[in-house]
Amino acid sequence: MAIDVRAYLEAKADLDRRSLNREVLSVFGRRLKGKAKVRLLEVGCGTGVHLCRLAEVLGAKELELTGLEREVSLVRAAPELCRKRLESQGWSCWIEYRQAAPVLIGERGEQNLRLSFICADLWEFTSDSKWDAVCAHFFLDLVPVRQALFRTALWLEPQGLLYASANYDGGTFLFPPEEGFEANLLARYDASMEERRVAGEECGGARSARRLFSVLCQTGWHVLAYGSSDWNLTPVEGSYRAADRTVLLALLEMIASEGQTLDPAASSAWYQRRLAQLQQGELGMIIHQVDLVACRP
Ligand SMILES: C[S@@+](CC[C@H](N)C(=O)[O-])C[C@H]1O[C@@H](n2cnc3c(N)ncnc32)[C@H](O)[C@@H]1O
Repeated sequence: MAIDVRAYLEAKADLDRRSLNREVLSVFGRRLKGKAKVRLLEVGCGTGVHLCRLAEVLGAKELELTGLEREVSLVRAAPELCRKRLESQGWSCWIEYRQAAPVLIGERGEQNLRLSFICADLWEFTSDSKWDAVCAHFFLDLVPVRQALFRTALWLEPQGLLYASANYDGGTFLFPPEEGFEANLLARYDASMEERRVAGEECGGARSARRLFSVLCQTGWHVLAYGSSDWNLTPVEGSYRAADRTVLLALLEMIASEGQTLDPAASSAWYQRRLAQLQQGELGMIIHQVDLVACRP
């Protein structure tokens, strides 16, 4: 990918905000309402964009937010990026360096916030702490779902919540529609996600939402709400919203790179055609994703 991960995560922030399923989010918020203090852990938090979004919508007087992320560079960048993001949301923020890792402190009206990041791998992270909710945003396609849920349950209070959003579910659609090579290319793109393995185990992959739903039902979780949170990367009157153009470019590159194993010449020609449409403000992409909130068994 020509764009680096950090820039990509920042570029998709507005798209994610627009795409979240409102009903699922409001069920999540309702379940936490009434608690004076909410403790929340996000696994695979990147630069903390989703944690800032949740700080925006959760009304608890005290918010204790923790992000778990294995990439050192993202964890280092996160506090300052979150400070700027939270200030734009009306929080007064500062970063305290007194502890081993920086802690971002925020105040907004009656609300207090404490946001910290842990640099660790999900599979190695251990904690005696318990959280009211564990969030996974744009993450479960990367890990074996059953094992991730097993660990999540250990970190949750009784009646604790899992809020899993932006779970890719096997649908990438490009506009204007094209016949021929593109169908094979998109099938290869999905297959590359299906081939992901962690310690030999199948990951959420291209069917992460359906896999998540099945595992939750099999392991006694109570699914409270779910619904689509598709990415609409479509031009509006010839213009792209926010940083959608950057996200589209990154996606075209990711898809085209999978075409190298199929037919490099056809893949390059496809990329150039779709890139020209992007430059003209004519390319659209709709990506099917699902949000879900569930209660611990
Ligand atoms: C697609 S990104 C999403 C980041 C963030 N949730 C967002 O949407 O802005 C997935 C993140 O999970 C992290 N990740 C992947 N596997 C992980 C693991 N086993 N433990 C901790 N973090 C992991 C990656 O480094 C990456 O930053």
